[in-house]
Amino acid sequence: MLVLVTGGAGFIGSHLVEALLAAGHGVRVLDNLSSGHREYLAPGAAFVEGDVRDLDTCRAACAGVEAVWHLAAIGSVPLSIDDPLAAHAVNATGTLQMLEAAREAGARRFVFSSSSAVYGANPALPRQEDQCPLPISPYAINKLAAELYARAYYPLYGLETVAFRFFNVYGPRQDPNSQYAAVIPNFLSALLAGRAPEIYGDGEQSRDFIAVADVVAALVHAGTGDPDGVAGEVFNLASGQVTSVNALLAIAQQILGTAISPLYRPARVGDVRYSDADITRVVTKMGFTPRVSLEDGLRATAAWYRAQSTGVAQDR
Ligand SMILES: NC(=O)c1ccc[n+]([C@@H]2O[C@H](COP(=O)([O-])OP(=O)(O)OC[C@H]3O[C@@H](n4cnc5c(N)ncnc54)[C@H](O)[C@@H]3O)[C@@H](O)[C@H]2O)c1
Repeated sequence: MLVLVTGGAGFIGSHLVEALLAAGHGVRVLDNLSSGHREYLAPGAAFVEGDVRDLDTCRAACAGVEAVWHLAAIGSVPLSIDDPLAAHAVNATGTLQMLEAAREAGARRFVFSSSSAVYGANPALPRQEDQCPLPISPYAINKLAAELYARAYYPLYGLETVAFRFFNVYGPRQDPNSQYAAVIPNFLSALLAGRAPEIYGDGEQSRDFIAVADVVAALVHAGTGDPDGVAGEVFNLASGQVTSVNALLAIAQQILGTAISPLYRPARVGDVRYSDADITRVVTKMGFTPRVSLEDGLRATAAWYRAQSTGVAQDR
């Protein structure tokens, strides 16, 4: 198949592109390199440098493709709070434009990367897909709007859309340098540099961390396999294991052999306190089971960051 990955120069997208190429597909990437990296692009992929805010670019990128994975986004809650209009243009309108371009091109399947952030202030735990979303940041509102568009494109136009609500994805190539870096790259890069890791709030907030290898396996399965009855659906994509930020730091310290006390900072506006995923639907309906334990995933990730920090040649 000829397929398209938007955001294919980013953290998750670059791993997805490699998996699709390895499976024998022709892969095109659309990315504006705003947070992605040219050196993460797999050599076998065709690259369109462009922006999902431009409809003609979306159309050109979709020409002739059978499946689209739409991952391009401003993927940061704080950044969306700083500039909600920009976040909406990329994350919500950009997704609608990609859906339109995919529909016009006659693509069969469209896989969308939504977020667990859509559950927001709804106190119900664990998170189940049918609970009422109560997003508390522009980013989460963007993702929910985009998800709803994707959902409607199946009954309206026959485009087989699948939306995944990613929980906390981690792995090699996740950016540790951004001021908006996620907690695992923050912890690993601080510990490897001998700095105190920073924790926002008391550290007892819970998260579900899923390895990028598991996310990629689910994405490939949803877009190229033929799971029945998944079109127009939304799925939690998580490990099913809850870990507090304090417990995560303890595991990271154990793996790296460090014992550095963290610095506790005030909790951040827009962060949810608890994030606990029910993965029954993705397991039973999608036929996908996560395989990588947090310890194994963290070990592989730490090895990548260690090699980065010591300048050892790395895979892209
Ligand atoms: N990493 C996580 O834990 C997580 C959790 C929930 C949802 N997601 C979603 O998964 C997707 C991938 O996230 P990631 O962690 O790989 O982030 P990332 O920032 O590494 O990747 C996003 C990619 O999109 C590109 N991009 C951004 N704006 C663009 C635009 N206007 N036009 C074209 N390309 C553009 C960036 O250059 C980058 O390569 C995003 O949609 C994100 O919202 C990620």
